[in-house]
Amino acid sequence: MAKHTANRSMGTVALRWQGDSLELLDQRLLPAEEHWIKAEGASGVAQCITDMVVRGAPAIGISAAYGVALAARHAGAGDWRAEVHKAIDELAQSRPTAVNLFWALERMKGVFERCESLAEATRQLAAEAVHIHEEDLAANLAMADHALEVMAPEKAMSVLTHCNTGALATGGYGTALGVIRRLHEEKLLSRVYADETRPWLQGSRLTAWELTRDNIPVTLNADGAAAAIMASGKVKWVVVGADRITANGDVANKIGTYNLAVLARHHKVGFMVVAPSSTVDMALASGEDIPIEERDGTEVREIRGIPLAPAGVEVFNPVFDVTPASLIDAIVTEKGAVRNPNITGMRALFA
Ligand code: MRU
Repeated sequence: MAKHTANRSMGTVALRWQGDSLELLDQRLLPAEEHWIKAEGASGVAQCITDMVVRGAPAIGISAAYGVALAARHAGAGDWRAEVHKAIDELAQSRPTAVNLFWALERMKGVFERCESLAEATRQLAAEAVHIHEEDLAANLAMADHALEVMAPEKAMSVLTHCNTGALATGGYGTALGVIRRLHEEKLLSRVYADETRPWLQGSRLTAWELTRDNIPVTLNADGAAAAIMASGKVKWVVVGADRITANGDVANKIGTYNLAVLARHHKVGFMVVAPSSTVDMALASGEDIPIEERDGTEVREIRGIPLAPAGVEVFNPVFDVTPASLIDAIVTEKGAVRNPNITGMRALFA
């Protein structure tokens, strides 16, 4: 299916599979430093996901798949089956919200269970992880096509985005940021407004970095400026990614996405969610069922050890929120778009 290889250069990449090891660009250090980490086996990959060395739903799933491949490579000849299963369980504990993680682990488990020897498992699991990686890149390119059909822009326009959904968050190119790249390639993009995305600053540290590297016109704004930007009539669409999409079309994505959807509806700005079908979880009826990760309060209280708030002040730090389907104009995947999503539209594409 995929006509791209996993390490095909699309400019920025988040991870590099070297055939027998996995290297991850440490996203905690960007944009100050480009530092690559060699993940130490499946446990090392799980730790890198938990610590956000690698983040973004598709990139988490791809990394976990390579983690399973590493588990087979490092397994002893004795109870290698138990070792790989243990690694899968450990990877599944790394972060709770992005369903791409569990989707990738299920896929790896399916391949693993058909293997009859450790040598076969080592080969097949590495090949499957590369397929998952390549398919994600191909899906991103296909999503950009579908998204432009939905937007049908007649002339260059500006859009607003949240968090980072680019090459750093995926197998390459990006989901929402892939759509933005495609608009730019087609000369249909005036400017991207990038929310800084408190508290982890994926927008300022990662999205602004990716876009400036590729000479795509970007204006960074504080999250609280989104309403004023929409009120000024400057943006036609808000384009975001997703961590989990449920059967009724509700969407979990980076905290603050729901705010944007409410604002977009008020200001008659289009609201589009762009994600691969590996982000769709038809087993969950609605967004209420999605486990929402809460991270440590230090992410809000301080930045790189510098206090931004009184020490020990109580913090509420959910890192995702749920946007109800009723506020979404289109969910775009590589399989096509669901406009005005609801259970019927979702089932038609993902049953
Ligand atoms: O906490 P993060 O940085 O992993 O959250 C990332 C997001 O919420 C993205 O919008 C989502 O994963 C889609 S990435 C293509």
